[in-house]
Amino acid sequence: MNSRRQFLKNASMTVVATTAMPRLLRAASSADADENAIVTQGKDGMIVRSLRFLDLEMPPEYVTSWITPVPHFFVRNHMFEPASVNAREWKVTVSGEVENALALTLADLNKFEQHSVVNTLECAGNGRAFQRPQVPGVQWQRGAVGTARFTGPRLADILQRAGVKSSGKHIMFRGLDEVPGNVPPFIRSIPIEKAMDRGTLVATRMNNAGLTQHHGFPARALVPGWIGAASCKWLTEIKVLEKEFDGNFMKPGYRFPNQPVAPGAAVAPEDTHPVTALNVKSMIVAPVEGEHVKARALRIHGAAWAGEADIVKVEVSTDGGTNWSPTVLGNEQSRYAWRLWSYRWQPSISGDCVIMSRATDSQGRVQPETAMWNPSGYLYNAIDKVMVHVEG
Ligand code: MTE
Repeated sequence: MNSRRQFLKNASMTVVATTAMPRLLRAASSADADENAIVTQGKDGMIVRSLRFLDLEMPPEYVTSWITPVPHFFVRNHMFEPASVNAREWKVTVSGEVENALALTLADLNKFEQHSVVNTLECAGNGRAFQRPQVPGVQWQRGAVGTARFTGPRLADILQRAGVKSSGKHIMFRGLDEVPGNVPPFIRSIPIEKAMDRGTLVATRMNNAGLTQHHGFPARALVPGWIGAASCKWLTEIKVLEKEFDGNFMKPGYRFPNQPVAPGAAVAPEDTHPVTALNVKSMIVAPVEGEHVKARALRIHGAAWAGEADIVKVEVSTDGGTNWSPTVLGNEQSRYAWRLWSYRWQPSISGDCVIMSRATDSQGRVQPETAMWNPSGYLYNAIDKVMVHVEG
């Protein structure tokens, strides 16, 4: 094991010891502290959910703009990031059910027509920590989500150059992650219809700069409106398949029950389907949980998103859900991107107060009071709540 791997192993032990206070990264020694700082460099203030395989959550109060700056963008890795990718030697292959197999360099990708998509990327497990009974997995609260402008060629243009045969029905992505031990590699697939969508990209840029290592340098899939897992990082292989890929990260991973299940109940694998598009959801950015606010006008604000649908309204309740008032939606909008919202509140009472936000989308979906429980805790989207204390 090289020293980096050894360090990450040590670091993961450090994190296990600090799960009660994930934001404070306690190091076993000053050498560990230095190494931790290297791994999370450029990501100051993020909540560390795991260091072994880097998982960083954005504190909700970091949402101060429509576009999330890269340093505040969450990171979700299932395994080790590729140690080093030489951009000059890197290629992504296109094979399988195609007339002409391709091997494209970064320069080749840059020669395709470039397109930008502003996309809200959310991990399927965002909010898992709120599921009751609790479920295993990274205990994300609210910040495994962010919005960025991704740029690169359309996947459809690449597939068109390769010439997809009529037998090609699903597109498989493989990442260059370093696979530890017997863990299966990060491979997933999407249906050809979504692959051919104008919004689906092989992105090489994020917020007008080249992708950073944590976010998939030199190229990643960008499957807008879908769970983050669809957007494979460190892309090395695109393969056209006759049927859905059925490896670990498609089955049993990333599946949702076909029918509602009783919280805590087991679900038979044949009664599940792959998780695809995101739910309707909103998040309160300010005030924050436990904040003491003065009894004078203040702004409640946040963000709301709905995957492939549009947000049509966000309402706020300041009395624990009895009365709801419409918020003002921000002007910045784009298909697949969240809308910022805000509400001017004049507290009329003092003491503890529960603030709630509830989004409705263009498909008529409304955030529920209780999210649908499922064994992996995917797509949590209950009405968001924060408790504040109004000082009299
Ligand atoms: N791609 C590879 N190769 N390996 C991974 O572990 N994680 C996926 C996806 N793409 C992953 C991956 C998951 S679960 C999510 S939520 C997003 O990347 C997170 O993207 P980000 O780290 O850029 O925020």
